[in-house]
Amino acid sequence: MGQGGTRRDFLKAVGVAGGAGVLYETMGALGLAPTPAEAAVPDFAPPRASDLALTGRAAKKVVILGAGIAGLATAYELRKAGYQCRILEAKDQPGGRNWTVRGGTQLRDLDGNLQRATFSAGQYMNAGPARIAQSMVTLDYCRELDVALEPFINQNADAYIYNENAGPSGKPTRWRTAKADVYGYISELLAKATDRGALDAELTASDKERLLAFLQNFGAIKGKAKNFAYEGTDRRGYSVEPGAAEQAGTVLSPPPSMSDVLASQFGTRFSFEFGYDQAMMMLQPVGGMDRIAYALVKAVGSDLISYQSEVRRITDLADGVEVVYRDAKGKERLERADFCVATLPPMVLARIPHNLGASVTSALGYPTATPVGKIGLEYKSRWWETRNRIYGGISPTDLDLAQIWYPSHGFHSRRGTLIGYYNTGANARVYGQLSPAERTERAVAQGVKIHGDIYRTELASAFSVAWHRTPFIEGGWVSWPSRTSGEYTLLNKPAGHVFFAGDWLSYYIAWQAGAFDSARKVVTELHERVMSS
Ligand code: ALA
Repeated sequence: MGQGGTRRDFLKAVGVAGGAGVLYETMGALGLAPTPAEAAVPDFAPPRASDLALTGRAAKKVVILGAGIAGLATAYELRKAGYQCRILEAKDQPGGRNWTVRGGTQLRDLDGNLQRATFSAGQYMNAGPARIAQSMVTLDYCRELDVALEPFINQNADAYIYNENAGPSGKPTRWRTAKADVYGYISELLAKATDRGALDAELTASDKERLLAFLQNFGAIKGKAKNFAYEGTDRRGYSVEPGAAEQAGTVLSPPPSMSDVLASQFGTRFSFEFGYDQAMMMLQPVGGMDRIAYALVKAVGSDLISYQSEVRRITDLADGVEVVYRDAKGKERLERADFCVATLPPMVLARIPHNLGASVTSALGYPTATPVGKIGLEYKSRWWETRNRIYGGISPTDLDLAQIWYPSHGFHSRRGTLIGYYNTGANARVYGQLSPAERTERAVAQGVKIHGDIYRTELASAFSVAWHRTPFIEGGWVSWPSRTSGEYTLLNKPAGHVFFAGDWLSYYIAWQAGAFDSARKVVTELHERVMSS
């Protein structure tokens, strides 16, 4: 902007070159307009029908390994330009980990346990993905594919926190009560320190004044005359609800001591609300997460998918790729294509013979699979609504069940299905090693500690999944010990005519958004390669 130009000239020049959006952002940078806070969604221009047709290029053939979200999204986007796609899927249903269990759903796991869900009509559990954040591209696909959405309640002030092994409280405490106490006492401490001058090196006199005003609001603490004491307010909840006429209600009191509140470790629960990918509002498809998978199947055409087709070998050729698979009848078959997009989990892909080089094999073996378990518990009544007045949300615990989820849909209907555990790592391994009946027994015995006997007596049926022991999946998700040691970079590039895609190749691991984003990246690269050839 030097050389004597005025700020106005500069803005005019930017406006001409970059359009109104750039102009506006530049004004923001100069302090003349608010800079939009929204993160930019990675650019994606789907291949268009005209790209191939108008350039005289023949439609290329692409064999896609896996009918999970990455595989389906790859086919969905490539089909827009008329690519011929064929999807090989080892299981007998689409979606991969996007899996909604309903009455009749069967699972035989790698340990030979066979389960057949006996959930009643309308009841389901999302065994894999179950929540979608507002920022995620998954929602754009829901819009494009007409998948109806409803709120997913990820956080509920009336759910419980149960830290059995922390502090003397050891009893289920409402999220709101725990939060009021933690915020209250932390505010009291900080207010006292501020008032006493302990922070004078950091704060001006007016900073102190403002900080004290903030803390009184944030923690609902007393003023200076009462030494900023936290004594509890109706934020904690009521033991007797306010009501008509003279019924003012009885506030739950007194709060536990500061020392007990610190010992309870309740304070460690609240960062969850801030998580970029976990903060409310969140959403779920009406009727089950697999509505997304089935909408994609409908859009691509179910005839493109060969189920019960297990990949046995991938061979990159000079001018294409060859995939050997075993079909539903156990017969070996060959699929020849111009390109392959492999979307299987890396630990599964790592075992499939190929000629893509030793570095690809070792890179596929590099990420670590995370054990993950979930159980759906169907109840004959929705006692958590009628007795506990909990409508959706999650009770986090320090038990091995980790958390209990209350359904975000079907309020006041007759039955409901909770998630009785959703755990990872060692806890998921412990449950995974049990028989399905033992898992139910263990989960119920733990849940009784929070909800009492009704947790056992009203139970109608259960279905559990140990993702790390599930055929063709073998993990809830993966983690990369490092993303900069070469393996992640290598697999984010094609090996000859073979591209890799999946949430495991994104920064949204364990989210469908990662699978969509990765598929879009690969579709873009593959299409650019075709268009430039
Ligand atoms: N995306 C997974 C979840 O929300 C990890 O639980």
